[in-house]
Amino acid sequence: MSKPIAGFSKLSKSKKIDWIVNTYFSNANDAKSILKQYWNSNEKLQQLHDEFIENTITNYYLPLGVAPNFLINNKLYTIPMAIEESSVVAAASKAAKFWLDRGGFKTKVISSTKIGQVHFMYSGAFDKLQQFFTKIKPQFFEDTQAITKNMTKRGGGILDIELRDKTNDIPNYYQLHVSFETLNAMGANFINSCLEQFAKTLKEQALNFELFSEEEKNIEVVMSILSNYVPDCLVRAEVSCKVEELAQNHSISGEAFAQKFVQAVNIAEVEPYRAVTHNKGIMNGIDAVVLATGNDFRAVEAGVHAYAAKNGRYSSLSHAKIENGMFSFWIEIPLALGTVGGLTGLHPLVKLALELLHKPSAKELMEIVAVAGLAQNFAAVSSLITTGIQQGHMKMHLMNILNQFEATDNEKKALSEHFKENTVTHSAVTEAINKLRIKS
Ligand code: MEV
Repeated sequence: MSKPIAGFSKLSKSKKIDWIVNTYFSNANDAKSILKQYWNSNEKLQQLHDEFIENTITNYYLPLGVAPNFLINNKLYTIPMAIEESSVVAAASKAAKFWLDRGGFKTKVISSTKIGQVHFMYSGAFDKLQQFFTKIKPQFFEDTQAITKNMTKRGGGILDIELRDKTNDIPNYYQLHVSFETLNAMGANFINSCLEQFAKTLKEQALNFELFSEEEKNIEVVMSILSNYVPDCLVRAEVSCKVEELAQNHSISGEAFAQKFVQAVNIAEVEPYRAVTHNKGIMNGIDAVVLATGNDFRAVEAGVHAYAAKNGRYSSLSHAKIENGMFSFWIEIPLALGTVGGLTGLHPLVKLALELLHKPSAKELMEIVAVAGLAQNFAAVSSLITTGIQQGHMKMHLMNILNQFEATDNEKKALSEHFKENTVTHSAVTEAINKLRIKS
């Protein structure tokens, strides 16, 4: 059993590593050399990464891949994706190519409002609180001017502040429910700074409100924080084509494919067990681009899944229909993203990813990310209703299995050739590599 350590964060990086490797590893030198292998030799770059978080001991790599040929609103994109799952980039590229020949993706940002809340306790009559709120509402705007000045100049800022009575849920519980437009910033810092100022104003002004009793003056702020539920920061992406244009490799008619596809999506709409996996496939595309562009994938995940459950039952984020011989497939998804602030101006690969995407505005990035999700979903459902998912998945996973066996370049070449004709399973690869090694 290791002992707790005091003052760990104050130790130097090398002392932290020494403590870690000596406390937890049977071979401290091996552990240390793995950690060091992932350091960047460019000291400035390494320091930048060290300072992103506390207690950095090394860098954690993910591959950054690209999926070309995405036609979005008649503009071509190559989409950067940071992800570990072998088949995701290949599937995105395949879907992009497929829709490139069928008019591409059409997208639209429906709304871009974000929400923050000050949660507080007040014990008194609601009508008095309402009078108080109406009186001090302009003060909220005034007291946050230093924070909102630049954002307002650019056309964003605080849209509205509402007082909400939540006493049906919890006695004495009220909210300031605030809507924001944060333009190209994800806006978390902006929103939270405004909210914390509102909380101060609320408490201070209550002390001077003549209609409040001594008890009522004592408003207790519980917390002030943005919401990652962003149902009004919404984007739509869609593809459509004639049903007969869906025929793939002559293995299935366009009509049969379209019908089976719509059935599969309908199942995800009504069956939560399927919906979660269906949406996970969407998030494969979404998270990969969100991560590559330095955005907060946990915020996006939380908001997206809450939205998927907005009608009281967890359901599919995408929808499909056949109407008048046309197949349409679309997604409507909440995405709070930024292309300025946060990591976007700091992480060299994030800057590169944004330049690759033609330096998008936040709204354009919402559109690109929604497309990545829809494309990924199209690829997954297409495989599921035709060949099954394992064929493509295992083909891409082959390299991982070969790497587990430390296969040489020649072995990889020979076995990739062999598995063009044979089904990839872990045991089939084990057998094939053993055979090859015995032979040579
Ligand atoms: C695997 O990462 C994602 C899929 O399971 C998605 C789906 O089932 O639609 C293939």
